[in-house]
Amino acid sequence: MSAPNIETIVSLAKRRGFVFPSSEIYGGLGSAWDYGPLGVELSNNVKQAWWRWMVHERDDMEGIDSSIILNPLVWKYSGHEATFNDPLVDCRKCKSRFRADKLQEEYEHTHPTEGPVIYGTGVVSFAADNKCPNCGASDWTESRYFNLMFETRIGATAAEKDEVGDVGESLLGGRAYLRPETAQGIFINFLNVQTTMRRKVPFGIAQIGKSFRNEVTPGNFIFRTREFEQMEMEYFVRPGEDERVHQEWIDYCYNWFTSLGISPDNLQLYEQPKEELAHYAKRTVDIHYRFFPEREDEARQWDELMGIANRTDFDLKAHSKKPEDAEGKRLNPDSTEDLSYFDEATKERFYPYVIEPAAGVNRTVLAVLMDAYSEKVNDKNEKRVVLKLHPRLAPIKAAILPLAKNKPEIVGMAKAIKRSLQPVMRAVYDDTGGIGKLYARQDEIGTPFCVTVDHQSLEDEAVTVRDRDTWEQERVKVSDLREHLERRLQPPPAEVSQP
Ligand code: GAP
Repeated sequence: MSAPNIETIVSLAKRRGFVFPSSEIYGGLGSAWDYGPLGVELSNNVKQAWWRWMVHERDDMEGIDSSIILNPLVWKYSGHEATFNDPLVDCRKCKSRFRADKLQEEYEHTHPTEGPVIYGTGVVSFAADNKCPNCGASDWTESRYFNLMFETRIGATAAEKDEVGDVGESLLGGRAYLRPETAQGIFINFLNVQTTMRRKVPFGIAQIGKSFRNEVTPGNFIFRTREFEQMEMEYFVRPGEDERVHQEWIDYCYNWFTSLGISPDNLQLYEQPKEELAHYAKRTVDIHYRFFPEREDEARQWDELMGIANRTDFDLKAHSKKPEDAEGKRLNPDSTEDLSYFDEATKERFYPYVIEPAAGVNRTVLAVLMDAYSEKVNDKNEKRVVLKLHPRLAPIKAAILPLAKNKPEIVGMAKAIKRSLQPVMRAVYDDTGGIGKLYARQDEIGTPFCVTVDHQSLEDEAVTVRDRDTWEQERVKVSDLREHLERRLQPPPAEVSQP
């Protein structure tokens, strides 16, 4: 089974220290969340698994970590200043603001057989009798576009200009943006990476980091927030090879999610129709996860976990000083570089095409939590939650539990075992309850193994290892414990061929 809805995970996440509503003591900040002690471990494990799979286990990959605030010209030439927009409408009655396209989608879904409707005259088609989800009125402003990039200012204000250090003078006090995707930091470093690492096309550059979007309707827990993390990779190929390589990456990425234990029943591929494609994309296929299993209509249960786009040569050309339009006018008079690639073997110069797998860290954390959720009944007929996380992702790998916390020899032995494990895995010591309670807590946070130290352990130098999923117990010598756990925590990697 998996979680019946996101709410189940919200409550588990708060109860057990995965994710807390941010700024709660000041009334919260809509759609901002803080990762607690277990959430930060889980999210780090997701990022480490991705980095190992994407960068370390391949021969054709480099990683970078670029700035969050880039020269604003990056966003001018990437097209984000002009096109990174959502259409908005305001309810005149209650002053709430909504995404016009999303309301309209919902409307068309609930009025499938309706005759012609009266559309507003704004930037998108919008039925005038759409009902406000907040107050129920149908009194709308016209729809208009709103840019999603978060604005900020560089350096001090004009009055304090003299005290500012090394910020480019022309940008002082000027408007800048927090990056809405990590991808552009990769494109502007394409030549730096290619030349310093002596790379030949095809090769890729990967990056994990925060991105920011001033989302109009954030929500559904960590699914859509204004501050989030992305795991993106830009794979540079010769034009003409892009379509084949794109398809290979789609399959490869899908298999990565199943290798993390996500059920194929909850994953599906979604081919973006032409009208949905971003301004840079020739083709995009999304991997959808069943984030909303409670919805009656199966088609509405799914939403995006990852997008895999063919961005063509759009970005490298857009940031190059060379490309010209039909009249021979330079398209980018501000860039000082030409980001084309010279192929030594064929003596050809070209702008590589880019295949981009882009996943959200937070959505992966949510999908992994939802998929791992299960319920089990114990022999006292009590319901227990068991989070069947892949051992590689589990925040805690082993919990060391003393059967008697008032017996110093048992406590000492349990603490020593914990210390012997901690150089190689995240292990915790817990004596804050009876053994049944301690097992239940570890099951609920997804700890694969509980190690119990009992009176017998003092005699035979052995402990009981309890398996989270089967609840089966096994006696293991303390001297063999580390190797025993390490072996069971490392299931053989899934056979996935690389593009
Ligand atoms: N560089 C391409 C790009 O950014 P995207 O589909 O807009 O593509 C990639 O974003 C992934 O980032 C999405 O599949 C999603 O997992 C995650 N993402 C995007 N917006 C998000 C948001 N507001 N909150 C959480 N995750 C988000």
